[in-house]
Amino acid sequence: METAGHRIALFRIGDAAYAIGDRCSHAEASLAEGELFDLDVECPRHGSEFNIVTGEPDSLPATRPVPTYVVELVDGEVFLEVEPVEEES
Ligand code: FES
Repeated sequence: METAGHRIALFRIGDAAYAIGDRCSHAEASLAEGELFDLDVECPRHGSEFNIVTGEPDSLPATRPVPTYVVELVDGEVFLEVEPVEEES
């Protein structure tokens, strides 16, 4: 999905929702089009896996994380904060 200039990949597992940046940090493929394995989504272009909780890549060739967003499900509705969670440095 795209909202307020952010491309966001939204995932739902049971009663939990997760949101990360939709552009793979390696070459910008859509992570929303990737396959989900537990809490990792596999980039459809070159196969890097990203943790949908932390945004961190778990495998190469991607080495940089994608942004994460605060999202929650309430009574079946999705509430998303459009600004990404700030990384701790
Ligand atoms: S575009 Fe995602 S791993 Fe290359």
